[in-house]
Amino acid sequence: MGCALSGPGVTPEPTFSKEKRGLDLSEETECAETPEPLHLSEPQKALIRESWKILHKDIARVGVIVFVRLFETHPECKDVFFQFRDIDDLQQLKMSKELQAHSLRVMSFIEKSVARLDQVEKLEHLAFELGRSHFRYKAPPKYYEYIGAQFIQAVQPILKEHWTPEVEKAWESLFKYLTATMRRGFYTEEKTAGSGGKSPCSRKAGAGSTPNKI
Ligand code: HEM
Repeated sequence: MGCALSGPGVTPEPTFSKEKRGLDLSEETECAETPEPLHLSEPQKALIRESWKILHKDIARVGVIVFVRLFETHPECKDVFFQFRDIDDLQQLKMSKELQAHSLRVMSFIEKSVARLDQVEKLEHLAFELGRSHFRYKAPPKYYEYIGAQFIQAVQPILKEHWTPEVEKAWESLFKYLTATMRRGFYTEEKTAGSGGKSPCSRKAGAGSTPNKI
């Protein structure tokens, strides 16, 4: 899917070893050495915080909507989740305790990210480590950007009159940053795994972050 959330600063992705389960994990295996800067102005951060105050009450629901829509639009993503990959009925999937728990974990991560908008090094560390753990979950980066796109769609009807193109743009920028940083963590972990535990990417999370300029 072409996605508004992908963008410059992120390396495109060719070949990655094929998974046993038949997932198409074709991606480039390289350390994206240049960290994605967090392009958020102070007014944009305020928009994210204000809209999160509204969304916060509904995070369990938003999380489930995001993932059910992800599986509707990209059914191949479901194969990554051994807990519910065999559930084909989307209504049944919505009721799945595992899906609900996972969706809540993802939304809690978004909550943590919103709380760290002014602590960009901490935010980067969080997202980088999450990307590393997603290598272990065998969840490839090309899927991450779908989450942001689905999140933006899911929150519009909840935010109602509080949703504006500016709010959308602010969330888009945050997801772009998070997914790019996760992607870097994923490839770093992949290289580390492929080199017997020694990371060929010497950069640590947080090192080289571009401070918020806008
Ligand atoms: C912006 C995108 C995403 C975020 C923020 C995110 C966040 C998380 C979080 C917070 C966890 C809990 C475990 C941990 O902290 O390490 C998790 C686990 C996991 N994620 Fe993601 N995730 C994203 C995208 C995806 C996608 C697209 C897939 C699959 C297609 C995926 C597959 C998994 C799996 C398999 C687990 C482990 C099982 C579980 O916790 O239920 N994630 N994710």
